[in-house]
Amino acid sequence: MALVTSTEMFKKAYDGGYAIGAFNVNNMEIIQGITEAAIEKRAPLILQVSKGARAYAKHVYLMHLIKAAIEDAEQTAGFDLPIVVHLDHGDSFELCKSCIDGGFTSVMIDKSGLPFDENVKITRQVVEYAHDHGVVVEAELGSLAGVEDEVKVSAEDSSYTRPEEVQEFVERTGCDSLAIAIGTSHGAYKFTAAQCTRNEKGILVPPPLRFDILDEVSKRLPGFPIVLHGSSSVPQEFVRIINENGGKMPDAIGIPEEQLRQAARGAVCKINIDSDLRLAMTACIRQHFCEHPDHFDPRQYLKPARIAIKEMVEHKLVDVLGCDGKA
Ligand code: G3H
Ligand code: 13P
Ligand code: ZN
Repeated sequence: MALVTSTEMFKKAYDGGYAIGAFNVNNMEIIQGITEAAIEKRAPLILQVSKGARAYAKHVYLMHLIKAAIEDAEQTAGFDLPIVVHLDHGDSFELCKSCIDGGFTSVMIDKSGLPFDENVKITRQVVEYAHDHGVVVEAELGSLAGVEDEVKVSAEDSSYTRPEEVQEFVERTGCDSLAIAIGTSHGAYKFTAAQCTRNEKGILVPPPLRFDILDEVSKRLPGFPIVLHGSSSVPQEFVRIINENGGKMPDAIGIPEEQLRQAARGAVCKINIDSDLRLAMTACIRQHFCEHPDHFDPRQYLKPARIAIKEMVEHKLVDVLGCDGKA
């Protein structure tokens, strides 16, 4: 199977009450870990590439690695793995065009930091070019706190999506899916302990996502795919392993999985996860070096890191997104 767009995937996800996982990729081990999990769980998949990932690994390497994963699925599992290759947080028409020309099947134009009319104008321009080339477009209204392409957006500068704007935005831009801001944020440091309460087991619980906004948006856009960025849960077990093995990650707290599960059952069709993969990989490598200080062959620590990513993605596909068996 060739690369696909997300149109069919989102329709099935919307109707079926589950979400597709969109995982950020930067190198071969990450691509292998994610795709091996998707093959095992028979799950449709979105692999997304940020501007930073493209600069790090080069467009052509990532494209060929992703195509290799599809070929590998066919050869080793006799399975047509449906994969969307998506540009994450495209910040200009030129970047989106370059990814479309280079074979991506989906792009995001993120002009959520601009005033409404300017966001509409640039998004519309990308949509026209993309649709002419059979590519779909994700846009964003409302902005998330956290780190995007090494730029820190402070919590004060972030803002929830205004439901009263979504219909006009989708109609005027013609975008195919919409990312909204309901309290998620990018990176591993989403909340501080001071912002959380403790449950009966003593576990820190962050303030809940704004499901009222999500409900209002989905009422105004029936059947339209909604996207959640910043959806890592920051497993405390990985934070502990990192901190016990020479790392320093105080106050790394993410979105409780239960809330993401709830979002996936409704209008949310795409859930973006990057930081949790980074945590799995880093925890594994830090622990490996502490246990084997004599090791220096990258295969000795990248192989277990790849397995850690695979296990993390399997867990997300089955226990959070509910998209296992849907490919
Ligand atoms: O939303 C941001 C993603 O986690 C990508 O991060 O720009 O460091 O590749 P990156
Ligand atoms: P996390 O940092 O929560 O993994 O979010 C990733 C993301 O939204 C990529 O676009
Ligand atoms: Zn994002």
